[in-house]
Amino acid sequence: DQSLKGRDFLTISDFTAEEIRLILDAAHCLKKELKEGVPHPVLKGKTLGMIFTKPSTRTRVSFEVGMVQLGGYPLFLSAQDIQLRRGESLADTARTLERYLDGIMIRTFAQDDVVELARYASIPVINGLTDLVHPTQVIADLMTVEEHKGRLAGLKLAFIGDGNNVAHSLLEICAKMGVHMTVACPPGYEPDSGILSEARSDAAATGVQLEVTEDPEDAVRDADVIYTDLWASMGQEAEQERRSKVFRRYQVNSALLKKAAPDAIVLHCLPAHRGEEITDEVMDGPQSVVFDEAENRLHAHKAIMALLM
Ligand code: CP
Ligand code: NVA
Repeated sequence: DQSLKGRDFLTISDFTAEEIRLILDAAHCLKKELKEGVPHPVLKGKTLGMIFTKPSTRTRVSFEVGMVQLGGYPLFLSAQDIQLRRGESLADTARTLERYLDGIMIRTFAQDDVVELARYASIPVINGLTDLVHPTQVIADLMTVEEHKGRLAGLKLAFIGDGNNVAHSLLEICAKMGVHMTVACPPGYEPDSGILSEARSDAAATGVQLEVTEDPEDAVRDADVIYTDLWASMGQEAEQERRSKVFRRYQVNSALLKKAAPDAIVLHCLPAHRGEEITDEVMDGPQSVVFDEAENRLHAHKAIMALLM
């Protein structure tokens, strides 16, 4: 049985390739229906609470609009304005919210806090980004790759930059879905070793190669997909200046793009610091699909909500 009803969505590693396939297929289908004007109010009368302790443009708007398109009702709960800020525990917050809501989306710092909330809430909890992972992002990312490349298996993705939350979720999903991946990062900024080794054991089963290198040119050689993200993530503002120096060599610019496959596409989860990790020329160029990718957050999140709730 492939039903995902009632499940949490905390990290990609909790899902099998078949389950990820189910979510991707639903996302493509919901996108097609939306474009054709076919209504799909499958969550009529349901409510989603969205807790944010970090800023967001795409995640907030796409979950909120997505819930409305599914016939449900979204509530934006800034962590500044609920009693969480004054020390109410995550457990008590969960025990309370589950009495009103059908699902919770949370974006915060510690992965453990998301796990804690999910432990005490009987309703599905969706991780809208932590310092460790960004699982909803990479569903939209692979959906975008499928649209532009027609497949996933056997492709090669190069991630240039910080071995961060986005890199972690990409490693997990690429390993399961048959996409080779190389992370190019400065020494000391490699992906988490636990996540890497778990992804590598999935990769062994799917025949996928996962590599980490210091050399961005090495990483992009023959790559079908080039991916980058901020050099300093939310919560790392104090390191911004130091990171700008450390990461200088890890910019996705035209010279680097020339070393990839000629029909390579460029992804960025956004927001971008133009002129740092990506140049205007690449981001606004013909190989960039970053705004398709941003749009696909909507369809991907609707698929996740429709299947879980
Ligand atoms: N990519 C992403 O999560 O964007 P936001 O921070 O704007 O939600
Ligand atoms: N790595 C970035 C992603 C933003 C969507 C961050 O965590 O800030």
